[in-house]
This record gives sequence, C-alpha cells and structure tokens, in this order.
Amino acid sequence: MRYSDELIEEIRSKNDILDIVGSYVHLQKRGSTYFGLCPFHNEKTPSFSVTPSKQMYYCFGCQKGGNVFTFLQEYENYTFKEALEVLAQKAGVELPENDYSEEDKRKDTRRKRMLEINKEAAIYYAHQLRSPQGEAGYKYLTGRGLTDETLLKFGLGFANVTSDDLVRYLRQKGFEDQLMIDAGLAGFDEKYGLHDKFWNRVMYPIQDANHRVIGFGGRVMGDAKPKYLNSKETEVFDKSRNLYGLNLVRSSRAGYIILCEGYMDVIAMHQAGFDMAAASLGTAFTSGQATLVRRFASKVYLAYDSDTAGTNAALKAIGILKDIDMSCRIINMEPYKDPDEFIKNLGKDEFQKRIDDAMDSFFFELKILERDHDLKDAESRTEFLHKAAEKLCEFEDEIRRENYIVATADKYSVTADQLRRLVIQKAAKGAGLKRELPKPSTVKTVTNEDLVLTKQRYLITWLSEEPSIFSIVKKYIEPSDFTDPLYMEVARQMYADLEAGRLNPAAIISTFDDENDQSKVASLFNTTLVIDNGNDRGQALHDVIYMVKKNAVESRSMSGTVDAESIIRQMNDKKALEELRKANITL
Ligand code: CTP
Ligand code: MN
Repeated sequence: MRYSDELIEEIRSKNDILDIVGSYVHLQKRGSTYFGLCPFHNEKTPSFSVTPSKQMYYCFGCQKGGNVFTFLQEYENYTFKEALEVLAQKAGVELPENDYSEEDKRKDTRRKRMLEINKEAAIYYAHQLRSPQGEAGYKYLTGRGLTDETLLKFGLGFANVTSDDLVRYLRQKGFEDQLMIDAGLAGFDEKYGLHDKFWNRVMYPIQDANHRVIGFGGRVMGDAKPKYLNSKETEVFDKSRNLYGLNLVRSSRAGYIILCEGYMDVIAMHQAGFDMAAASLGTAFTSGQATLVRRFASKVYLAYDSDTAGTNAALKAIGILKDIDMSCRIINMEPYKDPDEFIKNLGKDEFQKRIDDAMDSFFFELKILERDHDLKDAESRTEFLHKAAEKLCEFEDEIRRENYIVATADKYSVTADQLRRLVIQKAAKGAGLKRELPKPSTVKTVTNEDLVLTKQRYLITWLSEEPSIFSIVKKYIEPSDFTDPLYMEVARQMYADLEAGRLNPAAIISTFDDENDQSKVASLFNTTLVIDNGNDRGQALHDVIYMVKKNAVESRSMSGTVDAESIIRQMNDKKALEELRKANITL
C-alpha cells in the first residue's frame, strides 16, 4: 500500500506550486502563467512555465513537467517519498508510518541505505584520521596547511593500510556485503575475499547540495599513481550533476561562484575565506553542472590550473557557459599552478586581487589565440584580426558587440571603424551564426502519430482550461478514443473529475509513479492553444474532436479483430463519425 490518494492530495494542495518552484527559480508573470529559465536544461530565453490555476509546471523546451512533488524529485533528486515528507512537514501534515507500495519502499530503502553506508564510511574514515593508524594522513593534510577546523568542515578522513577494516566495521554496523560493493566501498576477489576499495589514502567525502555524502575521492600521500581514486557512480552519485563544495557554496552570499579543478583547491579557497568555490568531480565540466551553477550564482570565475591542460579545460568550460549565456572571468594564477599553491604562497589578499582583476573570457580567448600568432608579422597579425572579428560576430547583443569591438580595437591597435567593417564583412559570410542553427540530431521528423497525439493533447488541454466544453466533447469522445494508454488513463480520470464538477490536473499527476510519465501527463495539460485566431471557436473544436475520433475509429478498424462484437462496434463507429462530421458545434 502507498499513502492514500487523499493524504497525498491534501499535502499537494497545501503546498502552492508558485511558492515551491518560486523559491528555486526566478519567475516572471505573463498573463495567467509565470515564466523563468528552466532549471532542468540549458536555455537563454525562458520556456519554463508555472501555471497556478493548474498547480503545474511545464517546460516547453525540454518537456519536463509535473506538480510540486515531481518538481522536488527532479530538482533535489528526491524520491517521491522524500518529496512527500518535505512537503508534509512544510504543510504541517503528519504522515502515518508504513503506508507504502513495496516497489517504492524498496527503491527508497535502497537509496537510504546507500546514503547511510556512505555516511557511516565517512564517519569511520574521519575517526581513523584522528587515531594512531591515521597519523600519516593527519600529518599529510596538516602538512599541506589545513587546519583542524577545515578537516572537520570537509569531513576529511583516512583509509589506513589494513585491507579490510572498513569492511569489518560496516558489517558490524549491519551493512550487507553486496551493498558495500554496490556503493564502491569494497571489492571482491578470489584471493582476498571482500576487501576495502580505498587503502592508504586520505579521503575526501563528496557531498550533495543537501550535505549528504554520495561518494569519495581518495588521494595517495605521495607521488604514486593514480593520484586519486574516486567512487564509481551509483544511485546516489551522478558525477555530471554534482560539484565538490556545492553544499557550502549554497549558503555563500557572494553572488558568484569560483570554479576550479581540484578538491584541494576548493578546500584551500574555503579555508582562506572564499566560500563560493567548487570543483567538478574528477571529470570535465559538464552542461549539467553549468545548469547547477546557474541555480546558485549569476556570475562565474574560473580558477583552472595555469598549465596547458588547465587552459584547454578552461576554454571548454567557457564554451559550455556561453551556451547558456553565462559570461565568466578567468583568474590568473601565474606564476603558480593552482589556487591552492597560489594562496599558500601569496595569501588570500593577493588572491582577492586576482579575482578583482580577473580577465573577461572573451579577452582570455583572444589571449590564447595570440599564442599561435606573431602580432609583429603583418600576415600573421592579419590572420589574428580576422579570427578576432569572427569571434566578435558571436555577440548577439548589438551594444555588447559594439563595446567589445571598441575594446578589442583599442587593445590590438586598430581603429574601431576598421574592425567594425571587418566584423560586418564576417557576419555577412555567416560567421557567428553557427550556434544558432539547430543541430541535426535535434531536428525531429513529424510523423502522423505525432500529429494525432498532438490533437489528443490539444483536446485535453482545452478541456482543462475551459471545462464548460465537456458537455459537448463527451457526446463524441470517450476516454478509450485516446490511443496512447497513458493518455487514455488521464482522460478516464479527467472525465470522472469533470462529471463530478471538480477538475484537478495536478492531482492526476500524482497517480502516476514514474517521473517520465509525470512529465508526459504535464505535457497533456500544457499544449499551446491557438483557438482564437480563426474566430470560429466552434469550428475549431469540431475539427479537433473530429480528428481525434477519426483516428480512434481508424485504429480500431485496423486492429483486425473480426468477432461479432467488434464488427458491430465498427459499424457504430462509422455511423458516429459520419454524424460528427455533419454536426454543427457552436461555442
Ligand atoms: N583527478 C582524478 N584522478 C586523478 C587525477 C586528478 O580524479 N588521477 C581529479 C581530482 O578531482 C583532482 C582534480 O582532478 O582534484 C585535479 O587534479 P590535480 O590538479 O592533479 O589535483 P589537485 O586537486 O591539485 O590535488 P593535489 O593538490 O593534492 O595534487
Ligand atoms: Mn593541487
């Protein structure tokens, strides 16, 4: 058994979608709907909508949608049960124990156990660091300048040289062997049996934005390879959607975020008072992380390593951020390699100066480009200016482009007029347009089935926005006329609600367990209606009803069944369709 529908509905209705979503996403009112930048995909113009009357959100860009529960599941990576618990508490509703479906309970328990085992391991490692077996680790970390306070703040720990002490500890705490393996904390082989994965390393627990330990990075204390071992991805650890330090950045008031490459860099910056530093997790910066960054800060500074690898990684990150229209500045760490070394040598005041002097990403890109050119050589200098002009074309905002043209001209000693002419020339040849063209993979061919389903969605949205048309629609269309099983189920519930005179789309969403299904349901209620332009709304409704009916009749007749019942049904269908065709609908 899951919680009763009434209880779920009570909790849902006591949490207004605008309050919940509005506390995460900046929304602006447009008519009866609110719009903002979608937190689930990268975009520059808002296509994420919240409709209070439907108590639903829906993104026209990535098609994600749902109600308050779905939102927290997607945004906070909560299970349904966790979302329910949070919202129940907000609404002051008490949840009864043990009232839940087996499958959900199993998933929920599994995630909880996974988080528990990680937390328990973190506690064990932290304890080891402070015990005699952990002396080497403690010396290593404090030798690198970390204070006891910092060790605590980041929950740093130590995996000692004994090969199965964590395993024994976790067993004693009641964790199954398989869970240790699944969580990436232990491995199994014929020779050694079950043994600890991390061994003789200082341990960096990785926490999600809600301070829950989701994985580990472990560093050797010398120059051995590999320098770091990281937990594998699990149900609770998605490397492309988390950042090291995010749990702390979340409460920073700086208004910007500093992205760097290493765990140690994050820790060193925080210790020096830069509480807005975060790093990716042993992998390159992803667009999922860029979306995450935008939730917490509007400005980004990059403090990547100053070597070639770091510079290339920075250029990639600039591109990823540019795709969501986030500009960034690049902190120059020279002559040191990374923020950790920089701060250790020059201190936090110097680092603050470097933040203040950070270079605009555009000029950083030009600076890198300069390296391949000899600006004193006429030919090479020409080529450089042409490439610069091409890059200038990428600024869509006219004023911004003009400002950069003037600044670039000044910096590279050409006149703004000359450079502007060159930019116009390049633009005419199509430079700067490439980001705007849709990628081939995203261009979908519209099939007949898409069209049919679109009409069905259209009808459901229309019904939800104008319930008064129900008396007409139900004369011609039954829930079974919707061809997709999910559409049919939504229609069935909606018809029952409309008969009872209380349509509640957001409640319908909660009757589906799967998040993808929930998005699909949300899309049914969020089709864009264009009914007013042709004036004749009755005719428009007639057309939609007719299309939906015609398709239902056709798909039934193609099913090929030849028993008496279906033959009669088909004859009735044909008659009904013919009547519908001639019917005159007025609104
Ligand atoms: N990294 C990794 N595996 C490696 C090397 C690096 O996962 N074998 C990841 C880690 O997340 C590391 C980051 O890449 O923090 C940056 O690497 P690097 O600059 O080499 O390490 P630092 O964090 O600077 O570590 P330290 O200062 O302790 O050498
Ligand atoms: Mn380092």
